[in-house]
Amino acid sequence: MSKTIIISNRLPLQINIENDELQVTPSVGGLATGLKSFHKEGDSIWIGWSGMPEEEIPEHLLEDVKNKAREEDCIAVNLTQDEIEGFYYGFSNRTIWPLFHYFMEFTESDDWYWETYKQVNQKYADEVLKHYQEGDHIWVHDYQLLLVPNMIREQAPDAIIGFFNHIPFPSYEVFRTLPWRDEVLEGVLGADLIGFHTYDYERHFLSSVSRILRHQVDFNEITLPDRIVKVDSFPMGIDYDKFEKAALDHFEKTSENHSELQQRLDHHLKATPDAKLILSLDRLDYTKGIANRLRAFEYFLDKYPEFIEKVRLVMLAVPSRSNVPQYQRLKREIDELVGRINGKFSTVSWTPIWYFYRSMPFENLIDLYTSCDIALLTPIRDGMNLVAKEYIATRTNHTGVLILSEMAGAAHEMNEALIINPNNFDQMASTLKQAFEMPEEEQISRNKMIQKRLKRYSVEKWAQDFMKALRNTEDNRQAFEAIRINSKVYDDLLETYKNAKSRILFLDYDGTLVNFADKPENAKPDEEIIALIKRLANQEKTEVILISGRDKDTLGRWWEDTPIDLISEHGTWVREKGKDWELSENVKNDWMEAVRPVIENFVDRTPGTFIEEKNYSLAWHYRKADPELGEIRANELSNVLKELISNHGLSVLNGNKVLEIKSSGVNKGKSSNKKLKDQDFIFAIGDDWTDEYMFKELPEKAYTVKVGIKQTSARYYVEDTKRVRTLLKAFTDND
Ligand code: ADP
Ligand code: G6P
Repeated sequence: MSKTIIISNRLPLQINIENDELQVTPSVGGLATGLKSFHKEGDSIWIGWSGMPEEEIPEHLLEDVKNKAREEDCIAVNLTQDEIEGFYYGFSNRTIWPLFHYFMEFTESDDWYWETYKQVNQKYADEVLKHYQEGDHIWVHDYQLLLVPNMIREQAPDAIIGFFNHIPFPSYEVFRTLPWRDEVLEGVLGADLIGFHTYDYERHFLSSVSRILRHQVDFNEITLPDRIVKVDSFPMGIDYDKFEKAALDHFEKTSENHSELQQRLDHHLKATPDAKLILSLDRLDYTKGIANRLRAFEYFLDKYPEFIEKVRLVMLAVPSRSNVPQYQRLKREIDELVGRINGKFSTVSWTPIWYFYRSMPFENLIDLYTSCDIALLTPIRDGMNLVAKEYIATRTNHTGVLILSEMAGAAHEMNEALIINPNNFDQMASTLKQAFEMPEEEQISRNKMIQKRLKRYSVEKWAQDFMKALRNTEDNRQAFEAIRINSKVYDDLLETYKNAKSRILFLDYDGTLVNFADKPENAKPDEEIIALIKRLANQEKTEVILISGRDKDTLGRWWEDTPIDLISEHGTWVREKGKDWELSENVKNDWMEAVRPVIENFVDRTPGTFIEEKNYSLAWHYRKADPELGEIRANELSNVLKELISNHGLSVLNGNKVLEIKSSGVNKGKSSNKKLKDQDFIFAIGDDWTDEYMFKELPEKAYTVKVGIKQTSARYYVEDTKRVRTLLKAFTDND
């Protein structure tokens, strides 16, 4: 039976050794806490790091660590001290983490970090491959494993792979500063489906793919030479029922059964019944805005002194990544700030901040969530922020106020919370005041709405949606109509070719025989392709026709000495072997004077674009333009032109990053059909929209082949120009 393989850097359980005994604790962090419920319910295995350096696990306990993990359907990957240093503390947490959270000043570029990152990603990929069986779904998680999807794809080309990024994806302007940006994008693109928490992260990613790798992006689909990759946003939810139930259980308990922490909280609530508690809860991370939160709290007490002794900030900071200098500095900064603020405002019976720097068991989290009247969560940047959702889920009587930073992914779904800008102290202070004064009915009505949404889009639903979309990518692969020229088709094709009495080959030029270049004049035929075409043309039974949108002069010059027929400008001109060019249709070019200035206006407004002037057509090239702007302007120009040329016997062709205006009566389909006699082997190959005329109009028995994966009327496809050459070469194998 097929299973799901989850892979993340960290397992949901953290294994430690104390007095030669294994201690297992749950891992902290949104990824582990969120995915845990999905893992528990489904048929899945989870591959990840146990949290300890390999060197610290005594030989005799290695097997026990493995078994402990296996009890929870987990497979522990062991990392050495060096690997942890370069991969985890290094590239993951000193390069990607700060960069993706827009902390460019903290971002380090270190070759050794990068090398170790690659090596450890390979280690994870290899571990996956050990457990992978055909039909399994592989789900890779987060920024520590960006290269894993492609590493798996290299070994298992047909695997179904999903990737989910739990942190923000930065804008192109920030991402482009990463020295290894191409490799990172290519790594992720090994997946069939790539998920983000919000649409903003998704569009930043798509924009980087289109600008850096220059892949075709249509809405949320990326076309690679051999596959289509889907990108979508899936805002992660929480295990709502678990938190709701924990809160209900909590209220059922008698006070003696409450935790020590709860008893302390109760004691204070009793002593100061009109005082309110504000919760601050995060991993100790500079992205969480903890220092700003403290400063804003200080500003609040300064500005509204009436709240002195009426409010207490309960701050839990969970130790995290403490080997990274920025985290150590932040710890010192927060210690100092807490000390200073407490020193400044404390009275004999009151301290404004209770500060805990430690991890707490789940029961205590619930104590805090249920006891605090306000949650103040003010990250500078945060992929999602599950704490915000957990707080609301535990408010079973629907009271409580959530103040949430607009920079958290969760803010998109929690509009009814009080949304603040974490850099604006004044706004934070006045929002705190608003929270204090908010009538209970208003709290209830706001929270009810959020609760309804959170309950519906739980973590389970999130995972189901992702897996469903992943399975759909599999169906899309099968639904793809053109058939890839695999070895079976290849053998049949060659056999038919060999046995044919006469053959005709229609070959498109750009994007088919040669790759595209920045400028059309730079895509000259190389010696290899000229020799190959000559060999084909010299076959007694084979007629070769180069059918292109190019102008006749360039085509004629490049293929002067090759004994083949040339069709240029999509069929406007024909040069038969050994003869002169002839105009094939009654075409005109007197329209050009009127149309050229319109296109020139688009050239002026769209950097990187230019006009190619042919005898009977005008082409506007936008390959070098900013990809997004290029598409927008192409669309605009196409509409303007269509209006301008209507009723003039002209048409606009949308080619591969080119718009071309030419006589309607001319196209590759008409021209190729004219060449047919009684050939029993007809073959046509091309990459772009203009070639579709051939694919549609040639007889059904023709072998029509599209280059690249796109919507097509061709019967077959090959991935790229390299494969085109391999195929044509095979036609000459028996010469
Ligand atoms: P991040 O993923 O950046 O750490 P999130 O808010 O998305 O931030 O997730 C934090 C997760 O860690 C939450 O699910 C929360 O319940 C859990 N958590 C936070 N603090 C503690 C703690 N002290 N002990 C155990 N779990 C914690
Ligand atoms: C965030 C990341 C997770 C990570 C967690 C805890 O939620 O998205 O991938 O596991 O923080 O960080 P740590 O470095 O302790 O795993």
